[in-house]
Amino acid sequence: MDQGVASGDGIRGPLLACRNVSKYFGALAAVRDLGFDVSPGEVLGIGGPNGAGKTTLFEMISGFNAADSGEIVFDGEPITGWTPERICHRGIARVFQMNAGFDTLSARENVILANYFGATNRVIPGLRFSRESMDRADQSLEVVGMADKRHVACRHLPVLDRKRLMIASALASEPRLLLMDEPVGGLNPEEIADIVAIVGRLPALGVTLIIIEHVMRFLVQLSTRVMILHHGEKIYEGSAAGMIRDRTVVDVYLGEGTSTRLAHFLSAKAGDAGPAASA
Ligand SMILES: Nc1ncnc2c1ncn2[C@@H]1O[C@H](COP(=O)(O)OP(=O)(O)O)[C@@H](O)[C@H]1O
Ligand SMILES: [Mg+2]
Repeated sequence: MDQGVASGDGIRGPLLACRNVSKYFGALAAVRDLGFDVSPGEVLGIGGPNGAGKTTLFEMISGFNAADSGEIVFDGEPITGWTPERICHRGIARVFQMNAGFDTLSARENVILANYFGATNRVIPGLRFSRESMDRADQSLEVVGMADKRHVACRHLPVLDRKRLMIASALASEPRLLLMDEPVGGLNPEEIADIVAIVGRLPALGVTLIIIEHVMRFLVQLSTRVMILHHGEKIYEGSAAGMIRDRTVVDVYLGEGTSTRLAHFLSAKAGDAGPAASA
């Protein structure tokens, strides 16, 4: 992807830049001196063993747990140390690893709330939702294929629909960058294909993506570039095709079996026009 693409505010350069970012828990360096850029329109896939620091990186970018050192720049503006709501209002949304939602509210009410509080700052909430909030919620439910379930209470939705609802809620906050933490964890292959189709639609809607995932087929299918973390440090950044040939990545993360299976998967995909073809 061209690094020089102009982003939403007309600023040329990366949409997100992390520079020498570190996070320590006591003596443990969960993320150490990490640097990378994400261009507008990209889908960056992040992999790595458990405990590699992937979620901690999302915690820092989304402001839930501030970086100890380094700088995070979003669309040309340093956001290091900002509160999560300020970061969300500026255009970064997050889909969590665990399913989150307001159980007693309907799918539509969940998404309306996400738009109402996520898209702009509301110090004093109003008494009713605007037509704009409701329209945006309906559009987001449409994108994830849940328009027909909008009146179902969140607690009655099966796991796949709760995942879709979380994506719809994140979209309703009108993000330019969406962080997804293991979006297909616990899903079967059919359900994973469903999420692939939804996530595949997002770049065309102007949403740049960073996706953490252990299901490597999912990751390489959607990513324009991948980054692998190990012990809080970057051990690989580049194409999916390069990753499966990278000795360190194969040794510490993928293993020979997965690497070989991914090689077959990528070559089978090479004839398609999907993102994996250029990965
Ligand atoms: N709040 C915390 N307090 C202490 N240690 C933490 C905390 N969050 C994460 N860690 C540790 O930091 C390391 C990275 O964790 P995490 O970012 O969750 O890894 P990943 O998402 O790659 O599996 C792990 O060793 C984990 O135990
Ligand atoms: Mg994690």
